[in-house]
Amino acid sequence: MRLSSAVLIFAAVAQQCAGFPSSFFENRALHLGNRTVAAFDPAAQLIDVTGDHAFEAPNFENGDLRGPCPGLNAMANHKFIPHNGIVPFATAFAQSKSVFGLGVLPDTAVTALAIFGADVLALDFSIGGAPPSGILGGLGLLGNVVVNVGNAGRPTGLSGTHNQFESDNSPTRGDFYQFNGNNHDLQLPYFESLYNLPAGGPSANHDRDIIQQHARNRYHQSVSENPYFFYGPVEMVVSCAVHNLVYAMMANHSAECPQGCLTGDVLKSIYAVTTLQDGSLHYTPGHERIPDKWYRRPVDYGLDIVTDLVAMWLRYPELLIVGGNVDGVNTFAPIDIGNLTGGVYSTTTLLEGNNAACFVFQAVQILVPDALSKVAGYVSGILGDLLGAIKPVLDDLACPELSELDTSVLERYPGYKRTNHAV
Ligand code: HEM
Repeated sequence: MRLSSAVLIFAAVAQQCAGFPSSFFENRALHLGNRTVAAFDPAAQLIDVTGDHAFEAPNFENGDLRGPCPGLNAMANHKFIPHNGIVPFATAFAQSKSVFGLGVLPDTAVTALAIFGADVLALDFSIGGAPPSGILGGLGLLGNVVVNVGNAGRPTGLSGTHNQFESDNSPTRGDFYQFNGNNHDLQLPYFESLYNLPAGGPSANHDRDIIQQHARNRYHQSVSENPYFFYGPVEMVVSCAVHNLVYAMMANHSAECPQGCLTGDVLKSIYAVTTLQDGSLHYTPGHERIPDKWYRRPVDYGLDIVTDLVAMWLRYPELLIVGGNVDGVNTFAPIDIGNLTGGVYSTTTLLEGNNAACFVFQAVQILVPDALSKVAGYVSGILGDLLGAIKPVLDDLACPELSELDTSVLERYPGYKRTNHAV
C-alpha cells in the first residue's frame, strides 16, 4: 500500500483542489452537465496510425513487454513509445499527453521529477513484467528501477507492483489474489459486463456515467468474490482514477460528438478484444490498438479528473469508503479512521472541509516511505525527495496535523497483510 503513481495522481488532484473552497466541488459536481466542450478540430485531434505509427503486434518471443495499462500497451504497438515496452519516464509521460491527452499525471510527475534533473526522467521502466535479462544487461541498473525492484534486485515492471502501482478493483484486470497473481491480463467477463452495460447496447456511448456504474459493480464484485480484497487509501484513489480514465481517454471525437463518444467498437480495439464469427468476444493479450480515424480529446484531461472523482463519490459513496474483506468474501469492514489516525480524523470529520483530501494525501505520504526499505538505496532517495517536493501541496490544503498512522489497524485485512509481508 504505497506507491508512487498514486502519490502522483493524488498530488495532481490535491494540487488542483488547493485553493478552491469546498463549495467549488459542489458547484462543479452540480454543473457537470454544463461542461464546456471545445469545438471539434479534426486536424489537431486526429491520431495518425498509418506509416511509422501503423499497428504492429508485440513479439513476445523476442522479449516485447506489455502489461496492465491499455494506454501504454497501445502506444507501444503504434510505436509512440518503444515497441519493446521499455520506456523512459519522460517519453511515457510526454506521449500519454500528446496521444491521449492525459495531462493530469504527466504534468505533476514531470514537475515533481524535474527537480532531480534529466537523469530521472531518462530512467527506463518496463510497461509489463520483468525485462528479459539480455535487455536488462543493456540497461544496466535503470530498467524500471523507480517502479519496483524485486527480491533479487531485479526490476519487476508495472505488472509486478500490486498495491504499489496496481490495485484491486480495476475496470478489466483481475484482482491480484483471485487470479494467481495475474493482475495484468484482461478478464473477459469484466470487459463483457462493461461492453454490454449501456441500455442502448454495445454500440451506444460508454460515457462517464456508464463507466462509474461499472466501477460500482466491480467494487461489489470484489467484495463478494475476492476474500483478499483490500481497498486502502492508495488503492481507492488508483481504482477510482483509472475507471474514470476509460471514458476520458478512449472516447472518439467528431463533429457530431465533440464531447467524445465511446462505442463498443472503440472500446474493443483499445482493449485488444475482437468479435469472432460466432459473435463471441475474444481477447488477444498485448494487441491493444488505436482505431483508424480516432480523434483524441480537444483539451488535456487535467482539472476534470477532480470533477469526475467528486461526481463518482457523490453518486456512489461506498466507493470512497476505505477498507477491505476481513474474513473471507462479503466481510468488508471500513478502516477505523479514528484508530488509524490516532483520533486526528473520524468518519464524521472526514466529511468536513478538505479533510477527505487531506487524509488520503497524508496517508499516502506516510505509507510510502514504509515501502522504501524494500527498494534499492538510491531509489529510496529519489522517492524520498519526490515526497518532499509534494509537501507544499499539503501545506496549501491547511490540513490537520497528522504525522503518523497506526498501521497495525490495517493488519486485520488479509489482503494488506499478505502483500506487505510477502514482498
Ligand atoms: C506514464 C503513463 C502511464 C502509467 C505509468 C500508467 C500506469 C498504469 C497502471 C500501473 C495501471 C494498472 C492500475 C490498476 O491496478 O488498475 C494502469 C491502468 C490503466 N491505464 Fe494507465 N498508465 C499510464 C498512461 C495511460 C494512458 C495514456 C492511458 C490512456 C488510455 C491509460 C489508461 C489506463 C486505463 C483505462 C487503465 C485501467 C485498465 C483496466 O483495468 O481496464 N493509462 N495504468
